[in-house]
Amino acid sequence: MSKRTIAVLGGTGFIGRHVLARLVRDGHDVIALTRSRERHRDLLVLPGLRLLECDPYDALDLHQALEGCDTVINLVGILNEKGRDGAGFRAAHGELTRRVVAVCNDRGIERFLHMSALRADAANGASHYLRSKGEAEDHIRQEAGAGLLWTIFRPSVVFGRGDGFIERFRSLLRTLPVLPLARPNARFAPVFVTDVATAMAHALDRAESAGVTYQLCGPRVYSLKELVTLIARWSGRRPKIIGLPDGLARMQAAMMDYVPGKPFSTDNFRSLTVHSICEKEAPGLRALDVQPTPLEAIAPAYLAPPHRVVPGTPGASASNRASSASRSDPGSSPSDSQRS
Ligand SMILES: NC(=O)c1ccc[n+]([C@@H]2O[C@H](COP(=O)([O-])OP(=O)(O)OC[C@H]3O[C@@H](n4cnc5c(N)ncnc54)[C@H](OP(=O)(O)O)[C@@H]3O)[C@@H](O)[C@H]2O)c1
Repeated sequence: MSKRTIAVLGGTGFIGRHVLARLVRDGHDVIALTRSRERHRDLLVLPGLRLLECDPYDALDLHQALEGCDTVINLVGILNEKGRDGAGFRAAHGELTRRVVAVCNDRGIERFLHMSALRADAANGASHYLRSKGEAEDHIRQEAGAGLLWTIFRPSVVFGRGDGFIERFRSLLRTLPVLPLARPNARFAPVFVTDVATAMAHALDRAESAGVTYQLCGPRVYSLKELVTLIARWSGRRPKIIGLPDGLARMQAAMMDYVPGKPFSTDNFRSLTVHSICEKEAPGLRALDVQPTPLEAIAPAYLAPPHRVVPGTPGASASNRASSASRSDPGSSPSDSQRS
């Protein structure tokens, strides 16, 4: 494995923390670029990691931040914007990526890894989120110079302790005895965050991953209702889950657009109108020598109420091990250490 100097944008987020830990462990020089160094000082426990404040929308600032780097990883992403016209999504996904690619070209950066999402499509994406993710991909494909080798990753929903999706449902289920669920038949193939980080780490070293878009999925497809039912069971809850017809779900989303923090939005509803699952023929985790980890082997441990693993859960003993491993190191898991 060749040692690289890697700048990571969005490395302070849920997936980013696992990616940073993996890159540090692999012996690379890693610089996490953040809009607020103060908020993410806890990351300095990673040995040798440099945490650099940088405004990624300022070309000069970004140019300076990338001095001495040969590799850039872009994990920046938002699930909701302040307004509702898509401008926030276009800025954080399409425009930001275009700027990063331009600075990479200028700086003679050799390698660029980019995190997108399944069903990203600039022309036909179902939501502002998916269209803007598609715009970002198009900028990379069209504007990366000949010297900049890029790889794009499109995950389904990503799970792991501290994730945004499964843990959000867990919180909702704590307070709501009845859960009205939009798009209960939307399909997902949840992928373990450690597998995502490992796939990115493996791609760095493989010339054949240049110019490839990988689709990252877990081993099993679930409907949203199945997923929420499992989350409830693993977190010791027995709510009534009611699938909403689309008309009512749209109204629910339209109301939530105005709730601070937007726990659900019209744009989220639109993203749910397409299935977040991988195409059979697309290159994925296995093409990068990563064996997909089942949700059942990991999630029960971090969803179980404290000091209790739900009895009879598949993989409950593996879950205990996963729980203690991920408590001690945010970037590691049993599967991670087996594979490295
Ligand atoms: N989590 C999933 O299930 C999932 C599924 C599919 C795709 N993805 C994609 O994977 C990537 C990482 O996801 P994640 O869940 O780790 O996200 P996250 O936890 O929300 O972290 C994203 C990071 O991006 C930076 N950021 C946020 N808003 C920004 C903005 N407006 N402008 C510039 N930087 C901003 C933040 O870093 P600073 O505040 O330090 O600057 C933040 O730590 C995203 O591109 C996301 O779309 C995630």
